[in-house]
Amino acid sequence: MASRIALLCLLGLLVASPAIADSGIYYQLELMWPGAYCEQSSAGCCKPTTSAKPARDFFISGFTVYNATTDAPVNRCSNKAPFDPNEITDIPGLKQYWSNIKCPSNNGQGGWKNAWKMSGACSGLKEKDFFEKALEFRSRLNPLVRLQKNGIQPDFELYSLKKIKKVFQSGINATPLVQCSMGPFNKYMLYKLYFCATEQGTFIDCPVAPKYTCSAEILFHPFKRWMLQQLQGEDAEFAAAADGDDQDAFVLPGVAMDI
Ligand SMILES: *[C@@H]1O[C@H](CO)[C@@H](O)[C@H](O)[C@H]1NC(C)=O
Repeated sequence: MASRIALLCLLGLLVASPAIADSGIYYQLELMWPGAYCEQSSAGCCKPTTSAKPARDFFISGFTVYNATTDAPVNRCSNKAPFDPNEITDIPGLKQYWSNIKCPSNNGQGGWKNAWKMSGACSGLKEKDFFEKALEFRSRLNPLVRLQKNGIQPDFELYSLKKIKKVFQSGINATPLVQCSMGPFNKYMLYKLYFCATEQGTFIDCPVAPKYTCSAEILFHPFKRWMLQQLQGEDAEFAAAADGDDQDAFVLPGVAMDI
């Protein structure tokens, strides 16, 4: 009997030990709604020069590793790993969901390099793991699908800020920070969502919560691919595709919705 208990204890330790691993960090994922970006940016928004079409969905616009003790981004270390574009070429969904639609059109490398330098290089994560982790969080959140299942969609309508937060609260048990920007008719519109997760991947309310100004009801601006400006003489194929299909040919694998 005693040896059985000892064995159970040992098994318990073995099972529990990975969860105990904790280097005192948490993650913050910043997601941007491209429809709001295109609407508010004076230069508009531009189709990236990569072959992949940006997703018709929230994009990753930042992924930051925080020190859980100080709540400061982990961005100082003596040994910053340099950014190597070749490390991330094969990551599924990177070009679609971490897309850079700034004008003039660009290939996204600048944004990824910046994210790596600002937050990845000192995070203790390998470069590929850093980007994959951000994409994995994004797909677990699956924010557009989650919102749409609750009747909240990018259709120019006004939606209750409280209800938007509640959709996530009841789905992932954490409340996002919502950042608004000024939209048409002087209405605040949904611009960015910020989510935090522990090192083990559990979503939590972000410990650092700057106050963003929104109204009680905010506009959810449509995002259509035709909003992305073409380079002159760019492929007609893309323009035609943007006109017709309202479906994304690309779906990130492993997206599980449990709501
Ligand atoms: C977090 O900050 C504390 C206090 O400065 C420091 O001792 C610790 O090493 C930091 N942790 C990480 C993961 O950077």
